[in-house]
Amino acid sequence: MCGIVGYVGRQKAATILIEGLKRLEYRGYDSAGLAVLQNDGIEIAKKTGRVGNLVKEAKHHRFTGTTGISHTRWATHGGVTDANAHPHLSSDGKISLVHNGVIENYVSIKKFLSARGYTFSSETDTEVLCNLIAYHYAKEPADPDQSRFVTSVRQALRHAEGTYGIAVISPEAPGEIVAARKGSPLILGVGDNEFIVASDVAALISHTQNVVYLKDGEVVHLTPKDFSITTLDQEDVEAVVDRVTWTVDAAELNGHPHFMEKEIFEQPAALENSMRGRFSEDGSTAKFGGLNLGPVEFRQIDRFVFLGCGTAWHACLVAEHLLERFARVPVEADYASEFRYRNSPLSGNPLFFVISQSGETIDTLGALREAKRKGYKVLAINNTVGSTIARETDGGIYQHVGPEIGVASTKAFTSQLLVGAMLALHVARMRDMSFADGVEYVNALKGVPDLVRRVLEQAPRIKEIALRYAHYSDFLFLGRLSLFPIALEGALKLKEISYIHAEGYPAAEMKHGPIALISEKCPSVFFVPKSEIFNKLVSSIQEIKARNGKTIVITTEGCELPPGVADEIITIPDCHEAVLPIVATIPVQLLSYYIAVARGCDVDKPRNLAKSVTVE
Ligand code: G6P
Repeated sequence: MCGIVGYVGRQKAATILIEGLKRLEYRGYDSAGLAVLQNDGIEIAKKTGRVGNLVKEAKHHRFTGTTGISHTRWATHGGVTDANAHPHLSSDGKISLVHNGVIENYVSIKKFLSARGYTFSSETDTEVLCNLIAYHYAKEPADPDQSRFVTSVRQALRHAEGTYGIAVISPEAPGEIVAARKGSPLILGVGDNEFIVASDVAALISHTQNVVYLKDGEVVHLTPKDFSITTLDQEDVEAVVDRVTWTVDAAELNGHPHFMEKEIFEQPAALENSMRGRFSEDGSTAKFGGLNLGPVEFRQIDRFVFLGCGTAWHACLVAEHLLERFARVPVEADYASEFRYRNSPLSGNPLFFVISQSGETIDTLGALREAKRKGYKVLAINNTVGSTIARETDGGIYQHVGPEIGVASTKAFTSQLLVGAMLALHVARMRDMSFADGVEYVNALKGVPDLVRRVLEQAPRIKEIALRYAHYSDFLFLGRLSLFPIALEGALKLKEISYIHAEGYPAAEMKHGPIALISEKCPSVFFVPKSEIFNKLVSSIQEIKARNGKTIVITTEGCELPPGVADEIITIPDCHEAVLPIVATIPVQLLSYYIAVARGCDVDKPRNLAKSVTVE
């Protein structure tokens, strides 16, 4: 949700900033802009639409400077206009700012500044913060020990309520950037006499793998030679430089037309990475290094609570099913955004897990903080090392699937399902699951990359089906038990990237309402795996067929469907219940991808969405 990049060094800043913005475009694509410090002042270019539009606009400017800031926007305050695009410039021309987040008290600050002669040319909260820094800069006496520029940023931020990741430049401070964060991610890339500050590692990985994950309340001051970090209260912070393990290749398309397709096909390898080194030597259970919780503590837990948003919430629902089914422990799965405000009574000894690919989703972060405030231990299933959620939880499990760039989550989701299944095994083996059942479960998990590969081989056939169904404007996705969340996920994927109305339902609930939608104009994607309720599932499809509904049936090998119930059949391998949700996800990912492509949609950057939602 908004991406920022700042560069200070020896190279031309504009080139590096635009390259960084392209890599961060998944965070928002309403407008883009950059500001560069030149010999004769500051040069700003900004334009609504994609970074491509900014590139065209930038040709009308002569960007020669080696210090600059840039932004790709997901609009919150103020419409999608050139004026509302970042960077903003203070009305006295002394401060320029890019911002990811929301300044909640911007109305009162704006009033204060207006009364003191500051003027505004946009509707944004960001321009208000920009002018607030300018106000402090103007009144800040030059302190021989402190840069007036950094001090004024700190002063302004002390009055700003809300969330921010910012990068600031001033024509009066050539070769300097001040950046700060609270509630929005910010990472410093440490190069050789050059520094990049960005919302995400993707923007800086082609320059350096050495990074500092800035923390909330920290302010970093960059010059081409050095950097220093302080708190808002001006205390020095000792920087810890980490090394990012993935390389720039992971953030490239590598011949695929879209990141979504690339990431769908990466899933066998991604799942291997999520499992690597995580099975016990006797091959009967899963082990995790980061839970910070011994078996005795684990046994005392009487309830698990899983929290997440969007696709991650669907992973919470599958984890709920598997933990209850195999570990026989009560589980609750909740939307993080609802949990944090619902004030639900919690008794006993629950253990919280938040699930988040980015580790920055503000609703999930809010729920985690609320659970911690109440004194509960919170762990995370998370893909982003150094993310805010990773830092604020008491431990957790990294997914290790590399960067996910496509806005619609694919490999991160199946990896979350896998980690959830491993966690269910871990807990089950501490309780009633036998050694033999544990070994069978582990073998099933180890086999999942191959099963996924086998479904991916059916991509050409799924594409044909997609082409036959791409013109429909309503879909139902139906499944039961552990595949009900996959029905939700299938419907979400389709609506996210193709803008087709789709609903996911537990199959048996169809007759309590959604059946009214069934007609030849509303196809149903129906999960019918081998199970003890197979016959009940078949009866539900018959109800659809009796009302002239079209059916795309996803079934497992060896199932015999009565003639005439399926207009299309996609067969997936018969597999262990713990891995069935993963294997069943692949056809609906492919189906929605090919339908969206057939409809000419921009699958990697669907309208109105952003990958990492850092506002409430
Ligand atoms: C956004 C994205 C979804 C994602 C959700 C949670 O809404 O568009 O694809 O599932 O955020 O993201 P997280 O990073 O917390 O998993």
